[in-house]
Amino acid sequence: MSMHDVDPTMDPTEFWEGRYGTGDNIWSGKANAVLEKVASELTPGTALDLGAGEGGDVLWLASLGWDATGLELSRTAVARAESAAEKAGLSERTHFFAQDLHQWQPEQQYDLVTASFFQSPVALERHEILKRATQAVASGGTMLITSHTAPPSGKEPNFDRSMFPQPDTDLTALNLDPELWDVATAEIWTREGTHHGHNEIMTFEDTVVIVRRK
Ligand SMILES: C[S@@+](CC[C@H](N)C(=O)[O-])C[C@H]1O[C@@H](n2cnc3c(N)ncnc32)[C@H](O)[C@@H]1O
Repeated sequence: MSMHDVDPTMDPTEFWEGRYGTGDNIWSGKANAVLEKVASELTPGTALDLGAGEGGDVLWLASLGWDATGLELSRTAVARAESAAEKAGLSERTHFFAQDLHQWQPEQQYDLVTASFFQSPVALERHEILKRATQAVASGGTMLITSHTAPPSGKEPNFDRSMFPQPDTDLTALNLDPELWDVATAEIWTREGTHHGHNEIMTFEDTVVIVRRK
């Protein structure tokens, strides 16, 4: 689906339930390449995934020994994630909750807080939520935000890049106190890959922001 096909005024729950309600899984069920690279270098502890979708990232983290929690707007996606966790024998180390992150206040802290492609063509106060999520990072912990910097190569050539997350705008939105935080990465990483359900190899650009609480 192109972002131009979506009515941006649509209610977010209705939109995302509609996306997940089509019958099949809409994501690959695998962790994304950036999370795999970044989390492989960390010692497993507790993790929180924002906008966890069908749970691919949470399941992969749990398979490495993390105790991982996913918060996600769509109840359909949460049910799919729970059933995938059960099938994989990872129910004990995974926790999924249907949660509109606009209404969420962090109550716990985690060694890793991650948000992968937490982007939406309908209403989403993304920066406000990510800023609030910094409170959920434990001392010594990491926050990783991975986003589509742009549509994949060849798709939507006339689009406005500023509509997509860029490293400097994401970092500015976090508004971190340098006494309390180190910025490890705020960059665009490029990778080759395929869209779920398609064979064509495309170039993807990811905005990757990694910050660490001292
Ligand atoms: C592009 S998908 C990414 C899903 C998953 N992180 C992944 O990488 O496969 C964005 C996700 O954010 C969720 N989302 C959108 N708005 C949300 C909100 N207000 N609260 C919680 N989740 C939300 C959507 O339901 C969707 O699952």
